[in-house]
Amino acid sequence: METNLGEYRETVHYNNHSGVRAICSDCHVPHEWQYKMKAKIMAVKDVYHEVLGTISTPEKYEERRLEMASAVWTKMKASDSRECRNCHAFEYMDFTIQETRAAQNHQKAIDTGMTCIDCHQGIAHDLAPGYLEEYNHVVKKLAAQPHQGPIDVAGIKSFLGTQSE
Ligand code: HEC
Ligand code: HEC
Ligand code: HEC
Repeated sequence: METNLGEYRETVHYNNHSGVRAICSDCHVPHEWQYKMKAKIMAVKDVYHEVLGTISTPEKYEERRLEMASAVWTKMKASDSRECRNCHAFEYMDFTIQETRAAQNHQKAIDTGMTCIDCHQGIAHDLAPGYLEEYNHVVKKLAAQPHQGPIDVAGIKSFLGTQSE
């Protein structure tokens, strides 16, 4: 847990000129759950789920990082990066003041239906070696599945074994 906290404190989502902060649950807990459920418990179960007990040292964290990141990417890709979109939206981006590379890539994303996490891995945490390969694996895996709508909330809830209040 310390590992993630330290890395995240170095990023613009922690400190920036406008003073808006994205906290763990902003990126990791679907919005509607925050009202219905105990968000804290969910955040922990959501991200660390069954591996929590096995991570006691930074070395062990690194051993499992790619696997955990892969689980997060799968959810973000499946939800069309919904948690990012609670704060950011292509519709409100002024491409005339964004640097050219960003504006061009965002136009391409709109045209081709790409989602935030397709290009923005590692915005809050360090990335494990081989992360792009693993990300491509996630994309292929999702593409091979029958489409279930934006996100399988019921499936995830039952996987986590939680009850709504
Ligand atoms: C709670 C609101 C919030 C959420 C959720 C959020 N962001 Fe941000 N994001 C911000 C703010 C605020 C900034 C900093 C803007 C500034 O520079 O003042 C920022 C900056 C950024 C930047 C530019 C700075 C950089 O790191 O290079 C990127 C890229 C970005 N966010 C992507 C994402 C993605 C991808 C997600 C989802 C995984 C996400 N954000 C989720 C609020 C949010
Ligand atoms: C096709 C790849 C691609 C996709 C998809 C994409 N981005 Fe970007 N984005 C970039 C690149 C490249 C940059 C410029 C370099 C950087 O900051 O990483 C950028 C920059 C940004 C910035 C900083 C802009 C600035 O002027 O400082 C933010 C914020 C951002 N992206 C958010 C998002 C969000 C939110 C989404 C999803 C709604 C998204 N991006 C989807 C490639 C992409
Ligand atoms: C701005 C959005 C954002 C914030 C804020 C954020 N995360 Fe993440 N988190 C991500 C993304 C995206 C991933 C997927 C891996 C990657 O691309 O870095 C991730 C991955 C993880 C992982 C999997 C292991 C890893 O390192 O990739 C854990 C655990 C985690 N986050 C916990 C946390 C905790 C705890 C906090 C608060 C201290 C936090 N996150 C804050 C976006 C965020």
